[in-house]
Amino acid sequence: MKRALITGITGQDGSYLTELLLGKGYEVHGVIRRSSTFNTGRIEHLYQDPHEPEQRLVLHYGDLTDSSRLVTLIEKVRPDEVYHLAAQSHVRVSFDEPEFTGNTTGLGTARLLEAIRMVGIDTRYYQASSSEMFGATPPPQSEVTPFYPRSPYGAAKLYGYWMARNYREAHGLFAVNGILFNHESPRRGETFVTRKIARAAARIAQGKEDFVYLGNLDAVRDWGFAPEYVEGMWRMLQADAGDDYVLATGTATTVREWVRYCFEHVNADWEKHVRFDEGYLRPTEVDALIGDASKAERELGWKAQTMPEQLAHIMVDAELQDVGVSR
Ligand code: NAP
Ligand code: GDD
Repeated sequence: MKRALITGITGQDGSYLTELLLGKGYEVHGVIRRSSTFNTGRIEHLYQDPHEPEQRLVLHYGDLTDSSRLVTLIEKVRPDEVYHLAAQSHVRVSFDEPEFTGNTTGLGTARLLEAIRMVGIDTRYYQASSSEMFGATPPPQSEVTPFYPRSPYGAAKLYGYWMARNYREAHGLFAVNGILFNHESPRRGETFVTRKIARAAARIAQGKEDFVYLGNLDAVRDWGFAPEYVEGMWRMLQADAGDDYVLATGTATTVREWVRYCFEHVNADWEKHVRFDEGYLRPTEVDALIGDASKAERELGWKAQTMPEQLAHIMVDAELQDVGVSR
């Protein structure tokens, strides 16, 4: 039985990856943060009682800012595969908290890599790199596109990207950078734009709210479906050698188009319900991200299946179900 360690197991991707790995027969160990309220909602359906003899999902307290804990965790779990997903992952928030973002998203990666090196285990390492690293470089973006980050988050992810590459080159670690373009789902955090809009469309259609306040509607993103992307992460770690791969749909959608997809799905006129709030603008914006995932298709046999309009419908339907409407 293979053993995996997932940081960020309570996040969107962590929850889908846990489902995938448990389904493949892995023993899965997840790192969770101590919180005064439960933060395990996304993995509640996977929870296993620690008293069960056959337990294959084990949760451990830990934090990316706590190096010694990362060492003891790696030593205790001795995973065959490490999926490093934990991060302060919100771009807008990273402008308010650049130091914290650098400490967790950037240095947290160095702490984890160093823990692996110090303990000396033979493991495969996945780094959750991001299309946000491309920033101002125009699309299409692939593994050979130069980086130009436009946020403290993007800069912190770029540091993590180079640290993973350096541990591959300097220490021979099987380290992979998954450069993932935006991927969404009904489990997406409520303040990311796709979920915020899908949620608002459903609630407005049900008369629970009147307006949604948004920032830049002209930004272009390449939105795919998160469960397909975690399959790509796993495939990267099954390859013959550590390498870097882009995962994306290759399609371009503006925030305005996403708004239209969501509101049309509930037969509502978005122009009556969307209002502008400059508080949602970023000091520096990433105008357009459109990925070229041909390397992942060629070498891993991975290809995105769900396209943005269908994804918007999946997410709105989930929100409708949440407010008691089935379709
Ligand atoms: P997410 O939903 O925001 O989840 C982030 C996870 O990190 C949560 O489990 C969170 O724990 C944990 N975390 C945050 N700070 C931590 C700390 N100091 N110590 C330990 N754990 C900490 O993110 P996601 O959408 O699943 O994305 C997964 C990873 O891929 C992230 O690194 C993200 O930056 C990257 N990425 C995401 C996308 C995307 O479109 N989704 C694209 C490219 C790259 P709590 O639940 O306690 O907050
Ligand atoms: N969040 C948010 N809220 N974004 C808004 C809003 C709003 O009210 N109005 C417009 N936007 C625009 C943002 O300016 C941005 O151009 C776009 O919508 C997408 O914003 P987010 O959904 O917050 O995602 P992101 O692209 O900044 O970052 C996500 O994708 C990255 C990969 O490219 C995050 O998941 C990152 O962690 C990830 O690395």
